[in-house]
Amino acid sequence: MKVLITGGAGFIGTNFIFYWCKHHPRDLVVNFDKLTYAGDRNNLKKLEKSSRYCFVCGDTTNKQAVDRVMKKVDLVVNFAAESHVDRSINNPQVFLETNVLGTFNLLEAALENKVNRFHHISTDEVYGSLSLGSKNKFSEKTKYEPSSPYSASKAASDHLVLSYWQTFGLPVTITNCSNNYGPYQYPEKFIPRMITNLLEGKKIPIYGDGKYVRDWLHVEDHARAIEAVLIKGRPGETYCVGGLKKDINNLEIAKMILKIMGKNDKDWLEFVVDRAGHDRRYAVDWNKISQELGWKPRYNLTMGLEQTVEWYRNNSSWWQNKKQEAERFYQQTNKK
Ligand SMILES: NC(=O)c1ccc[n+]([C@@H]2O[C@H](COP(=O)([O-])OP(=O)(O)OC[C@H]3O[C@@H](n4cnc5c(N)ncnc54)[C@H](O)[C@@H]3O)[C@@H](O)[C@H]2O)c1
Repeated sequence: MKVLITGGAGFIGTNFIFYWCKHHPRDLVVNFDKLTYAGDRNNLKKLEKSSRYCFVCGDTTNKQAVDRVMKKVDLVVNFAAESHVDRSINNPQVFLETNVLGTFNLLEAALENKVNRFHHISTDEVYGSLSLGSKNKFSEKTKYEPSSPYSASKAASDHLVLSYWQTFGLPVTITNCSNNYGPYQYPEKFIPRMITNLLEGKKIPIYGDGKYVRDWLHVEDHARAIEAVLIKGRPGETYCVGGLKKDINNLEIAKMILKIMGKNDKDWLEFVVDRAGHDRRYAVDWNKISQELGWKPRYNLTMGLEQTVEWYRNNSSWWQNKKQEAERFYQQTNKK
């Protein structure tokens, strides 16, 4: 089978390709990635020796490049996106171009080439925000109510993907997952930023009062969820994917990381100016994928964070330059 992965040089795509190549060694995997600041071809360098993996540098907003790479593809997994909420507040245009127009080009080419499955990676952020203390969770039935240009562009792409099923019968599936964490995550994001700050002897920045609740999903559990949907999921369906059952806020996550890294809370936390339009709480009901497809997360949060801290400890050459770039971005936007 020929599998086209878009955005495979980014965080989740990299982890997914490692997972897929390990568990489906006979497949040919093509990684199509523009290599933005968030993409690193070297993540998967060791696979480049294999005849079952190939890297193609390209942009999903370039229709001709997408048409070329889609030839004889059986299965598409679309990770390619601009993915950072803060950057979408600074510069929304590229979010619309990649997340909406890029997805449109992929859908058109997938339809033309009669692919067997088009799987789109989306986010729980399309559902907006839940109030603190409520028992509500996002599910596949929750109304879309995105708050940032990032989540609005992802919401638009989800609608477009489902319309290609309804209108043209393209066999699509979507996963709306919660916040991922694990190895190879760009250090601009919450968990790797905290870990790399501490490794550099700097404090952890906490937005606002820190009482922002997110669901956390280990990236390997996410890869298994995508695999389950690709193999057993029903075309035209969306599946919510999350990693936790109980609420945990950002401050509590920070304290867990401090404990793992042997640091005292008070000395290492710094409260900083809040993000505009910051969603209060996300919580994901992942009963559908669990009941229909038999998936559930294997990592508990402590174990996943310990493994992630260990990875950043052992891979400073991977993150040091990226971190400088990320911190420059935060300085320019007057945030820490
Ligand atoms: N990271 C999370 O916690 C999270 C949570 C929910 C959903 N998602 C979704 O998962 C997907 C992957 O997220 P990630 O965290 O790995 O993102 P990432 O920012 O780490 O990686 C994105 C990848 O896409 C590539 N890319 C960007 N624009 C492109 C274009 N026009 N053409 C081709 N390639 C392009 C980048 O070079 C990069 O390799 C995204 O669709 C994101 O919306 C992520």
